[in-house]
Amino acid sequence: MKYTKVDIEHLNYIKDIIDDDCIYTDYDKLYEYSHDETEDLSYKPEIVVQPSSTNQVSKLLNYCNNKNIPVTACGARTGLSGGSLPVYGGVALSLERMNKIIDIDERNLQATVEPGVINQVFRDAVEEKGLFYPPDPASKGSCTLGGNLAENAGGPKALKYGVTKDYVLNLEVVLPSGEIIWTGANVLKNATGYNLTQLMIGSEGTLAVITKIVFRLITLPTKDITMLIPFTSSEMACQAVSAVFRAGISPSCLEFMERDAIDWTLKYTDASINNLTDDIQAHLLIEVDGNDIDLLYKDCEKIANVLLEFDCGEILIADSKSQKDQLWNLRRKVSEAVKANSVYKEEDTVVPRAELPLLLKGVKQIGKKYGFKSVCYGHAGDGNLHVNIIKGDMNEVDWKKNLKKGIREIFELTKQLGGTISGEHGIGLVQKDFLDIVFSQKNIEIQKEIKNLFDPRNILNPGKIF
Ligand code: LAC
Ligand code: ZN
Repeated sequence: MKYTKVDIEHLNYIKDIIDDDCIYTDYDKLYEYSHDETEDLSYKPEIVVQPSSTNQVSKLLNYCNNKNIPVTACGARTGLSGGSLPVYGGVALSLERMNKIIDIDERNLQATVEPGVINQVFRDAVEEKGLFYPPDPASKGSCTLGGNLAENAGGPKALKYGVTKDYVLNLEVVLPSGEIIWTGANVLKNATGYNLTQLMIGSEGTLAVITKIVFRLITLPTKDITMLIPFTSSEMACQAVSAVFRAGISPSCLEFMERDAIDWTLKYTDASINNLTDDIQAHLLIEVDGNDIDLLYKDCEKIANVLLEFDCGEILIADSKSQKDQLWNLRRKVSEAVKANSVYKEEDTVVPRAELPLLLKGVKQIGKKYGFKSVCYGHAGDGNLHVNIIKGDMNEVDWKKNLKKGIREIFELTKQLGGTISGEHGIGLVQKDFLDIVFSQKNIEIQKEIKNLFDPRNILNPGKIF
């Protein structure tokens, strides 16, 4: 692909649209915007701009489209598939200054926000009004809602409440031409034409730039209980997962962590867990929520009875808010801890829940075949297993030679089990070579045609998904 380089003439034009102090060309800023949280990847943009209105985004896109300058939108750059990396340089379009909560409509249980609002800031704001926005990616303290939409982020609470897409009613987006459209309506039911709102979600900034989001909200559950359960066998822990649902219980969260994930994170966060004996191979972290604490304790009892059939160890029920926070902090920090420990490659496999034991077993077998270790954890209740392939002391040549083959086999297994190659991290840059495993050629062709329809000059986040 041949794109125009940003020169002084372009820069001067952009300075007419966007305030000088919201435009950066210095090395430090370009470097900052060259990476997200995906491994150690780095692709520098030629310029970073931080518009503060839809109008500014519109003028910028119109100009770049005419000049053939690539534009890659980004939020807080916490992504795990390289979705916001400006691989062809050009403009890094940061939405971080567009961070207003425009309206929380308590009459309709809806909220309208700009894309740069931080997930946690939004959840706190609606919680103050007794309302709940469930999607809670591990990076909720820093990731932005626009980024969450771009990747269709999930998180532990997706199990009971659904992922980002389940809360979006309507979007204001700017097309590469600079034209501004609303995709739907602020309603809970909508059978009016093609669903452009949902098409935008998970499209990783390749079709349009999101400038306003209308969310639906729900009422906030007032009570919850968190339990941590040890197992001497990782596979048994995975088998227990679907049994919990078959027993008629729907926890709000059901997470899985292998022993290394726990050990590395304990070390990384300087925390501790009681009774962590050498024979423990994995833990489940389960939460139930609702409004009646007695009913929740009954659910916990039922869950315990199911888990005992899978040889679980002593169940820890968090008895204070601080203990609960500690357990969830531990779970949320696994990804960071793995990153700090070794060169690695993170996959985001997802299978129908009951196939989880077969997936885990297969991942370990494939690892043995290619000589790599893996650390697995994730949203077991959703069948969503984060597989971290660890370089450890593997030599560079073997790592380069075997990694891709191993990943391909893991993804083929995932597909065979009825699953797919990303549950919540997206395809972005790092998974695009594997799309053929899960989609037919015709399917990919249709998706490419959709991309072409929205962005015929391919200036929006080029080099992603396909
Ligand atoms: C998590 C992120 C990596 O579940 O998705 O921790
Ligand atoms: Zn996750």
